[in-house]
Amino acid sequence: MSADPIVVRASDRAGTAAVASAVAGLLRPRDAVLLVGGLGAGKTAFVQELCAALGATEPVTSPTFNLVHHHSAGALEVCHVDLYRLERTGELDDLGLDDLQDAGAVLVVEWGDLAGGALGGALSVAIEDLGGTARRFELTDEGGQWASRWPALGRALAAAS
Ligand SMILES: Nc1ncnc2c1ncn2[C@@H]1O[C@H](COP(=O)(O)OP(=O)(O)OP(=O)(O)O)[C@@H](O)[C@H]1O
Ligand SMILES: [Mg+2]
Repeated sequence: MSADPIVVRASDRAGTAAVASAVAGLLRPRDAVLLVGGLGAGKTAFVQELCAALGATEPVTSPTFNLVHHHSAGALEVCHVDLYRLERTGELDDLGLDDLQDAGAVLVVEWGDLAGGALGGALSVAIEDLGGTARRFELTDEGGQWASRWPALGRALAAAS
C-alpha cells in the first residue's frame, strides 16, 4: 500500500521554489517526476525551480516543440519532457525515455498524465492554480519508489510551507 499523498500550498513563486527544492533534495538517478495540471498551472515554473535547486546554470525553457530538453543539474542529468503535443502513444516510445532513464537520467514530465503509466513508477506532482500566485501541490508516490523517502519528503515539505 502506498503512503498517503502529501498536500502543500504555496502563496507565491518563492513558495513553489521551496516545494521544488524539497523534492530536488531527495531525487535519485532514474527517478521520474510527473507534473500534472492545466495550462499555466506552473509545471514549467516547477521544473525551472527544481533544476535551479539542483544546481543547473543554463536557462530552463518549455520543451513544447521538441518535446525533450536535457539539462546538467548538479550531479544529475534532468530530461525535461513536455507531452502536450504528443499525437499518438507510439510517439512516446520514439522519445526513448526508457533508455534515458536506464542511463541514469531523471525524467521530469509535463502533462505526465498523458504517459498513461508507461514510465513505471513515478512521483506525481499535481499542481492546481488557486488564483493569483497561489498554488496547491498534491504529491503521490506512484509505484513505491518513494516509500523510503516519504517521511523525509513530508518533513521537507512541511518546512517549505
Ligand atoms: N506560485 C507560483 N508557482 C508557479 N508559477 C507561478 C506562481 N505564481 C505565478 N506563477 C506564474 O504562472 C506562470 C506559470 O506558467 P508555466 O509556464 O510554468 O505553466 P505550465 O503549467 O508549464 O503551462 P503549460 O500548460 O503551457 O505548459 C508563470 O508565468 C509563473 O511565473
Ligand atoms: Mg509548461
